[in-house]
Amino acid sequence: MGTKNKNPFSVSSLIFLLCCLARFCYGVDIIRQGETMKDGDKLVSGDGVFELGFFSPENSSFRYVGIWYKVDTEAVVWVANRDKPMVNTNGVLRIGVDGNLVVLDGNGSSVWWSGVPSILSNTSFARLQKNGNLELSNDTREVIWDSFHHPTDTFLPGMKLPVSLSMGEVRCFRSWRSAIDPSYGNYSVGTIANGGPQIVIWDQSGRRRWRSGQWNGVTFTGISNLSDTASFLHGFKLSEHDDNGTRFFTYEPSNSSALSRFHIRYDGTVRQFRWDGKKWTKLLLQPGNKCDLYNHCGNYATCDYFVSSSTCNCLEGFRPKFEDQWSKGNWSGGCERRTELECQRGKPDGFKRMKCMKLPDFSNLVPVKSRDDCRQSCLGNCSCTAYAYVYGIKCMIWIGDLVDVQHIDQSGNLEFFYRLNHSDLDDKKKISNGVIVIISLVGACFLVAFLWLLWRYKKKLKVSSMVCCKDKDAVVLNESKSSSTEFSAGFSGPSDILIDGDQVNRPELPIFNFSTVAAATNNFCEENKLGQGGFGAVYKGKLPGGQEIAVKRLSRQSGQGLEEFKNEIILLAKLQHRNLVRLLGCTIQGEEKMLIYEYMPNKSLDNFLFAKQAELDWRTRVGIIEGIARGLLYLHRDSRLRIIHRDLKASNILLDAEMNPKISDFGMARIFGGNQNEANTVRVVGTYGYMSPEYAMEGLFSIKSDVYSFGVLLLEIVSGRRNTSFRSSEYTSLIAYAWQLWNDDKAMYIIDPSIRESCCPKEALKCIHIGMLCVQDSAMYRPTMATVVLMLESEAPTLPKVRQPTYSSSRRSIDDQPIPNGQEIVSSNDVTISMIAGR
Ligand SMILES: *[C@@H]1O[C@H](CO)[C@@H](O)[C@H](O)[C@H]1NC(C)=O
Ligand SMILES: *[C@@H]1O[C@H](CO)[C@@H](O)[C@H](O)[C@H]1NC(C)=O
Ligand SMILES: *[C@@H]1O[C@H](CO)[C@@H](O)[C@H](O)[C@H]1NC(C)=O
Ligand SMILES: *[C@@H]1O[C@H](CO)[C@@H](O)[C@H](O)[C@H]1NC(C)=O
Ligand SMILES: *[C@@H]1O[C@H](CO)[C@@H](O)[C@H](O)[C@H]1NC(C)=O
Ligand SMILES: *[C@@H]1O[C@H](CO)[C@@H](O)[C@H](O)[C@H]1NC(C)=O
Ligand SMILES: *[C@@H]1O[C@H](CO)[C@@H](O)[C@H](O)[C@H]1NC(C)=O
Ligand SMILES: *[C@@H]1O[C@H](CO)[C@@H](O)[C@H](O)[C@H]1NC(C)=O
Ligand SMILES: *[C@@H]1O[C@H](CO)[C@@H](O)[C@H](O)[C@H]1NC(C)=O
Ligand SMILES: *[C@@H]1O[C@H](CO)[C@@H](O)[C@H](O)[C@H]1NC(C)=O
Ligand SMILES: *[C@@H]1O[C@H](CO)[C@@H](O)[C@H](O)[C@H]1NC(C)=O
Repeated sequence: MGTKNKNPFSVSSLIFLLCCLARFCYGVDIIRQGETMKDGDKLVSGDGVFELGFFSPENSSFRYVGIWYKVDTEAVVWVANRDKPMVNTNGVLRIGVDGNLVVLDGNGSSVWWSGVPSILSNTSFARLQKNGNLELSNDTREVIWDSFHHPTDTFLPGMKLPVSLSMGEVRCFRSWRSAIDPSYGNYSVGTIANGGPQIVIWDQSGRRRWRSGQWNGVTFTGISNLSDTASFLHGFKLSEHDDNGTRFFTYEPSNSSALSRFHIRYDGTVRQFRWDGKKWTKLLLQPGNKCDLYNHCGNYATCDYFVSSSTCNCLEGFRPKFEDQWSKGNWSGGCERRTELECQRGKPDGFKRMKCMKLPDFSNLVPVKSRDDCRQSCLGNCSCTAYAYVYGIKCMIWIGDLVDVQHIDQSGNLEFFYRLNHSDLDDKKKISNGVIVIISLVGACFLVAFLWLLWRYKKKLKVSSMVCCKDKDAVVLNESKSSSTEFSAGFSGPSDILIDGDQVNRPELPIFNFSTVAAATNNFCEENKLGQGGFGAVYKGKLPGGQEIAVKRLSRQSGQGLEEFKNEIILLAKLQHRNLVRLLGCTIQGEEKMLIYEYMPNKSLDNFLFAKQAELDWRTRVGIIEGIARGLLYLHRDSRLRIIHRDLKASNILLDAEMNPKISDFGMARIFGGNQNEANTVRVVGTYGYMSPEYAMEGLFSIKSDVYSFGVLLLEIVSGRRNTSFRSSEYTSLIAYAWQLWNDDKAMYIIDPSIRESCCPKEALKCIHIGMLCVQDSAMYRPTMATVVLMLESEAPTLPKVRQPTYSSSRRSIDDQPIPNGQEIVSSNDVTISMIAGR
């Protein structure tokens, strides 16, 4: 940078520069008042990820000041003078006399300034932060302007996407005009607040072009395709400013060290990219098809991309408004009611259910607490056209036209109910009654014919049907093979560490000094001890920066747990999810081996569940169940590695300050080969009572064995009773007990008495049902975690019937099993066992 300083600060900047060189840092990240950056000079953020400087877009000769990634200078994330380009390379960037950042062209006239009125600072400085934010500070080092609050077309992790308080729109990002022209383009992106926050793209005339669907507290409800969009759907979080209650979205990538950016392209599409070391991988593209385009089919019509014959269809009870245009494929007119509503004349109307829908736009939230009340509040208002009662949003009603209704296949199972005159509902019934009669007649005919055939060709039929089954199985097997994920990819790389002579791959995991950890835990003082387990003790500590940590110290004398120690490092370093405990680092020094985690103030779930039940209200429990389910789903499907935890239990679920669950203890976890759907082990590890039958008895484990453990855990959470507390009772296990009550139609009695009054019975029964499905004896009948998450999120899913679970692993008393020395886990009476299966 140009250092033609004529003020006393040149000395300090020189010292700064020298310091920097001595630290071998990547470059200078700061510009001070009085310094001048010429075309060609750069600021580089502290970790060398972002650069600020002058650039020309490809095929353009204009010069702009902007911020881009060092690894890809074409990926510009911010532009200062986007609508006033400089024509030559004589431009400069500096902090002006008033303390504002300013870009001057060759003639010395300003093409851009940061625009903070009356700073009157003579020692302002601007720093390019590690997250890509350019921050301008005044004399008192307070940030008075930053680029994150004045973004161009790119949303970066760390930015706040505000949601208006006054129910209005906030437009934050504006696309470039074209690939080579950063000036203000046709499309903008922002949020709308009313009826549940959504992200929206607007076009040049201010019309909505795309919307994400209403936020339900966890994700956006209108985006289909779970696997493609997983990182998008799971990364967002809605927070509130403490002081004034304004809300904003933030985005946290699942892998915080991977570069990730969202940007609104000049063609009006929002794209998310992740840097994979060599290139940008596209994770999201919206709108992705014509049905994603706002109200593509007009009002009162649904858009279904996967039905090629007719994309647009009027809702039942509606007909095209302009029949001739509609038949020509001009959908813009939409649909209209066949029969007027009776409400105005004082007669009630009926409601028709639409399933698997992106909910219509312009919803209104009504503060009622049940689906029935929601229905009533719509029924009682003649201008209400539809209602929905959605998990995480509660009651929504629509006044006026139903706009932008889209059929989305997999996600959410959202449904809404729209108003129709009874005649339109009855019509359908009559027809369907007729159809049923015809179908049953035809069916009866077929049955007679079939019985006759059966009787004549009994043997032949038997053989052929067996062949049929075999073929089917073969197909299923092939399918599961093709859905393989990368497995070996994670296991090579330069940064390895040695543990007892074994090389262990260690991706970007900080190593802590023994002395640091000792100081943090007050020299492993007894007072700081959180618990004691077979592998060693766990201590609470506080790093010099104030961050609280939990330290698991592997006991020196026991050779036990070394495998688990390595395993945990390998796995946890690669995993990041809000429902997995975060490994902050490790310590390996001589015989000392320690794992350092984030500290969880609320300890483990069993502390609450089996001791302080009353403190866990129903909502909290549901939150915990869903969190665990998401964490597991991430392990099974969405993480880069596919992982089976193998030791899921209440004591391995930690709770943070907000009672969010975090799965911990990956000592037993196994990475699951891409083309492998189940595996066999001679060493059966896990905890009795949580182990699936096929695993406990045959050592066969698969993701479905985790589902089993999840089911047990779910029942424990709902019932507030330990699985093992039934050993000496007539039921022998929680599962048997739950089945008995379930089968006797007394499922409500499974629910923990301390919350039975306050819980939502429907939801609780749904949870129990899901729990029962997860503990089915045969892995085949257990759902996958993806299905479990879907079922949990749906309001009233149609769930398969539960078969009686007969197996109960806790029936075998653990007392007659040899328990290897010190295999128990901190703060648990349930014992993690490890034994050689007799195979
Ligand atoms: C730049 O020009 C070349 C040649 O005309 C063209 O192939 C390329 O697509 C252009 N790049 C952009 C970003 O417009
Ligand atoms: C500088 O000013 C001259 C005369 O006003 C003008 O012709 C020229 O384009 C300007 N140059 C820049 C870089 O703005
Ligand atoms: C900055 O302003 C303060 C007060 O206005 C003055 O005392 C100081 O000398 C100024 N510093 C420089 C470097 O101009
Ligand atoms: C610096 O900015 C902060 C925040 O705007 C303000 O409170 C403070 O007074 C400013 N300091 C000076 C010296 O102007
Ligand atoms: C959903 O994802 C699959 C593959 O992951 C892809 O083939 C399909 O086109 C996607 N559907 C939509 C609507 O984007
Ligand atoms: C609310 O407070 C935050 C800082 O806590 C501030 O950035 C934001 O502008 C405030 N919003 C309003 C509407 O006052
Ligand atoms: C932007 O809008 C203008 C005017 O409507 C249009 O001519 C132009 O093609 C649009 N540009 C893009 C990239 O869509
Ligand atoms: C499509 O139909 C609307 C009315 O429904 C009409 O105004 C418009 O002109 C039609 N567009 C075309 C391309 O025919
Ligand atoms: C119906 O609901 C809307 C929106 O809540 C409200 O503005 C309107 O006054 C209500 N009408 C009646 C008759 O209650
Ligand atoms: C609405 O339905 C009722 C009951 O089927 C019927 O009697 C009535 O005629 C319908 N209203 C209109 C406007 O057709
Ligand atoms: C996280 O991203 C970094 C940088 O791209 C990569 O090296 C690492 O393997 C990623 N970790 C996981 C768990 O994906």
